[in-house]
Amino acid sequence: MMKFEYYNPTRLIFGVGSLEKLGEVASKYGKKALLVIGRGSVKKAGIFDRALEVLKKAGVEVVEFSGVESNPRLSTVLRGVKVLKENKCDMVIGLGGGSVIDASKAIAAIALYEGNPRDMFIIAGRTPKPPEKALPIIAVPTLAATGSEMNGTAVITLDDGEIPIKTPMKSGAIYPTVAIVDPELTVTVPKNYTAYGIADIIAHVTESYFNGVGGTPIQDRFAEGVVITVLEYGPRAVENGRDLEARTQIHWASIVALNGWVNVGTYAQFPVHAIEHTLSALYDVPHGAGLAVLNPAWMKFAARYNPQKFAQFAQRVFGVSSEGRDPLEVALEGINRFEEFLRSIGCPTRLSELGIGEITEEMLYDWAEKTLEVRRDNQGRLPGIPPLSKEDIVE
Ligand code: NZQ
Ligand code: ZN
Repeated sequence: MMKFEYYNPTRLIFGVGSLEKLGEVASKYGKKALLVIGRGSVKKAGIFDRALEVLKKAGVEVVEFSGVESNPRLSTVLRGVKVLKENKCDMVIGLGGGSVIDASKAIAAIALYEGNPRDMFIIAGRTPKPPEKALPIIAVPTLAATGSEMNGTAVITLDDGEIPIKTPMKSGAIYPTVAIVDPELTVTVPKNYTAYGIADIIAHVTESYFNGVGGTPIQDRFAEGVVITVLEYGPRAVENGRDLEARTQIHWASIVALNGWVNVGTYAQFPVHAIEHTLSALYDVPHGAGLAVLNPAWMKFAARYNPQKFAQFAQRVFGVSSEGRDPLEVALEGINRFEEFLRSIGCPTRLSELGIGEITEEMLYDWAEKTLEVRRDNQGRLPGIPPLSKEDIVE
């Protein structure tokens, strides 16, 4: 295990009915809020009106900023900054999925940033200048997936260049000040996005489980616990979106998976995410759908280099028998079970199912190159276990 420091400044208010606290919480941070939403789902579900009502009751004036797209773009974020500044808002409230929360974090940081916003983001070959301050951010997630409500990451598609690239900014300054997590707000998430969220939650812990250093038995057990919980409650949430118990467990799993607790000390890299971000930058693939395709494929490749760890996963999470068997065989059986699980909840598991159209070998090389343009080690490979060359990514 590596040495580490852990600090998570987000105050988490969790549980069914928590939305009622939004007004009281927001009133502590000022009188006027920029309320950031996506493309209409929260209005259709009645969540927007409920939020307005509690904010109004607490004397908080609201300026609406709507239209944040799934896979949010820098141009949209900059429009949000303009609205915020014109209206002199004191805080940013993100009411929506991970895309809305990420956009809200970026707006809150860019509003106080003097330099070029592009410089804040992680791009290979240069040192990013992450934001040192941000306006207070209140995250009210309506979809369980990214864990953005309790971490210091905002993933944005930089659409100001010739080719869009999707990459995070990471900073202690953009942890939401408060996360109000009311699992009831997620009951209207359709089956497909519920399933994509499940694929994302699992990927967050498997990325650190398989790509980190050894000697992390507690982190391993945390990660396995997250996956086992999601395997149990995920299908229930997909089957019946109104199953509040399932929605609650999935939401808590999504937060635990990426608030740092599971992967501290592992020095984990996120190669599957890096490849997926290329797909969602170029084709607007939903993040979790891209991961559902890429994660098992990557696992089949990486298991050859790390069979013991994959066999441990197969045995502990999927109950694959390991006695007297070759670890790689056990590992592959576990990965196949994982892939079957993803299929059973309706996730795509092949590139051809992502709606990109015909995929040529040339495209695969192009995606690999674009991924390495954003993220690479000093030998030009995508960091992880094993580090991936362009050819490895294509494979
Ligand atoms: O746009 P609206 O109308 O809001 O509809 C959204 C969108 O179509 C809909 N939705 C959200 N809540 C709903 C709902 N529909 C019905 N009822 C509700 N209660 O769901 C669709 C997907 O929303 P989106 O926010 O895009 O999904 P998700 O939460 O999966 O977020 C994905 C984004 O987060 C980034 C991804 O790359 C992607 O851009 N990530 C952020 C991370 C972080 N900040 O830590 C880490 C992740 O690995 C990830 O990269
Ligand atoms: Zn993710």
